[in-house]
Amino acid sequence: MTPLYEVIKSKNTKINPIWIMRQAGRYLPEFREIRKENPDFISLCLNEELSSEITIQPLKRFDLDAAIIFSDILMLPYGLNQKVNFEKGFGPKLGEPNIDVMSKIDEIDFVQKIYPVYKAIKKVSNNNITKNKNTIGFVGAPWTLLVYMINQQSPKKSLKKDFFKDEYLINRILLILEKFLKIHIKNQIDNGATIIQIFDSWAGLLKEKDLPNYIYSPTLKLVDYVKSLNIPVICFPREIKNYKEYCEIVKPDAVSIDYNTDPKEILNSIKIPIQGGLDPKILLSDKETLKKEVNKYLDIFKDHPYIFNLGHGVLPETDPNMFEYMVNTVKNY
Ligand code: CP3
Repeated sequence: MTPLYEVIKSKNTKINPIWIMRQAGRYLPEFREIRKENPDFISLCLNEELSSEITIQPLKRFDLDAAIIFSDILMLPYGLNQKVNFEKGFGPKLGEPNIDVMSKIDEIDFVQKIYPVYKAIKKVSNNNITKNKNTIGFVGAPWTLLVYMINQQSPKKSLKKDFFKDEYLINRILLILEKFLKIHIKNQIDNGATIIQIFDSWAGLLKEKDLPNYIYSPTLKLVDYVKSLNIPVICFPREIKNYKEYCEIVKPDAVSIDYNTDPKEILNSIKIPIQGGLDPKILLSDKETLKKEVNKYLDIFKDHPYIFNLGHGVLPETDPNMFEYMVNTVKNY
């Protein structure tokens, strides 16, 4: 069994597999090299030669236990014909969500539009470098995708004032998302993804009373769907106030925690395997601090099934030597 499966399925507490969110990305000079020649981010995600190469770049350098496919959660609205652009220094910019356009799209159109993503997954999972490792497929959670589709850009700290104004639009989009997220998940699995992670990066923006409608219910449907395909599912409800309640209702196979979450409190309240937590900014400090902080997480979770990861994506300004030091600290624990 792969190390990640050992932890997720067999609840092995003796090993600490590691992979890192955004492990393929701008902190690696070999990624920046490719990126320089490919200014359009979406086209890069749709180039299966390059996106599979980028996916395995970190595995060539570091002793990681999984590959996460180089793509983006916003490939989903792109596949639904919403305009998606990534502007340097700004982040994603989306066009108006057009319900008439979206409701006319069928499965064939959608799969055809983002087909290279699946081809890249196939290439990565067939590559020797992922032998006895997992290939992680992923989607954005319905809520986080809704945020981008309606807000049309990253919300930073808050949603636009009239975000919830058009309830009809919101409910229609959520239904469309449910359908196409399932299709997207199924195609990733059929092409070799052996774990699915659901990113709910903006879970923390909602008030408690809105969680059932926008997070619990739509995410539970996806989690049940992934489980029905016999593939483990990890959820990352970033900045959610109550991880315990989330896990009890949504029931993922493992949960990824953000860096503001107290690991000791989580340890005492959650039974399922836990992933992540370390603040990515720690990688910008020095080796001594990094080792201390890595060991802190490993110590706290030493008798709990634990997958090492960060509490959010690795920062672009990270020194690859620090990244390597982190991986080796985990491996030599
Ligand atoms: O290595 C991996 O983790 C796989 C690749 C991956 C990317 N995006 C590549 C990417 C994954 C899993 C994502 C998920 C994603 N995308 C999330 C969820 C995780 C999170 O960060 O909260 C979100 C919210 C997005 C949307 C998104 N994509 C934003 C807000 C941005 C711009 C911000 C930024 O970091 O520049 C992106 C762009 C993006 N996605 C980059 C990468 C490597 C940077 C693109 C570049 O090279 O300019």
